[in-house]
Amino acid sequence: MHQLNPVTKQIQISGIRRFTDLVAKYPDALSLTIGQPHWPTPQHVKEAAMVAIEKGYTTYTPNRGLPALREAAHAYYGTKFDLDYHPEKEILVTAGATHALDISLRALLEPEDEVLIPAPAYPGYEPIVRLAGAQPVYIDTRPDGFKVTPETLQRHITERTKVLVLPSPANPTGVAYTREELQALAAVLEPTEAYVITDEIYSELHFADAHVSLATLPGMRERTIVIHGLSKSHSMTGWRIGFVLAPVEIVEEMVKVLQYSISCASSISQYAALEALLHGQRDAEPMREQYRQNRDVVVRALTEMGLEVAVPDGAFYAFPSISSIGQSSQEFAQALLHEALVAVVPGDAFSTLGEGYIRLSYACEDEKLQTALGRMGQYVARQTSRG
Ligand SMILES: Cc1ncc(COP(=O)(O)O)c(C=O)c1O
Repeated sequence: MHQLNPVTKQIQISGIRRFTDLVAKYPDALSLTIGQPHWPTPQHVKEAAMVAIEKGYTTYTPNRGLPALREAAHAYYGTKFDLDYHPEKEILVTAGATHALDISLRALLEPEDEVLIPAPAYPGYEPIVRLAGAQPVYIDTRPDGFKVTPETLQRHITERTKVLVLPSPANPTGVAYTREELQALAAVLEPTEAYVITDEIYSELHFADAHVSLATLPGMRERTIVIHGLSKSHSMTGWRIGFVLAPVEIVEEMVKVLQYSISCASSISQYAALEALLHGQRDAEPMREQYRQNRDVVVRALTEMGLEVAVPDGAFYAFPSISSIGQSSQEFAQALLHEALVAVVPGDAFSTLGEGYIRLSYACEDEKLQTALGRMGQYVARQTSRG
């Protein structure tokens, strides 16, 4: 038999997945590993899906997604984030943000291209880049509060740089870029030929009132692909609905990749998404408020434990350094699970630049969060007194 694809052979199963498999062996553990809101999908959205099933809306939709849903996405992201994309030509409905990232990168990349990824990074980017035969190039953001700066960006750009991936707010750190920071990055990008994929899946869980998209800055629209979706904003991770908003020339290429990968997103999920966009403009607000409060609780607790942490601007993750403890991120996470029955994700799941950190998710009830942080505090105190 011929060998299987050597590129897929080299791709590792996500470190998050590996660790959650281990956590499953500790049924009494409190898990702070979760990558989704702990709220249910809004009732009105669930009902719209049930109506769709009953009415028999269970056939293929256009490849690009239901026209009404693209219209709704145009209005929704236009009102919220000042994005202006033509619903027929510049918006695609995808199977989650993951698929949006996949078709974006596949439509752009050629072998040998370089893709800049700020790191520590969400583990979903690198494998897609590698599958396209291109080269991921990590930008070390640790000295700069986990953000790319004009200087670090400039230093990493080469003639082969095809794409910069820019998540804001970011996973695993929760940091987000201000308008001024984006303007400074735009000035570096302007003279280059690089595209930017802005992953804005956490934009509605951005604690600052004004989430800014790079695409809205002068000169950036033609090179920017905006990734959105309902997984986090409407607690719809299992429904698999995402959006690409990009200039028509790029979308024309992407739609071919979409067509031959999934034909279209699930019709029932698209009707649910339509309801979410038409009548759920404020659905994320209570979650955002709770996660903002949880963020404050987490940052205070970690600081009291003596662990350094960048204050998250959004999403529901904190990424403290555990370098003072003298354990690797795997050792720390495994011992914390075993001894204190608290699960967090080892930082090395977010590239080698995540070593020396852990990610904890505060997408959970207050009581669980308090108990887990209390146990973690005791564990850290024991390690510190031993050291
Ligand atoms: C930064 C980031 N981008 C994309 C995704 C994928 O989102 P979806 O579930 O819509 O595919 C996630 C999921 O955790 C994420 O954290």
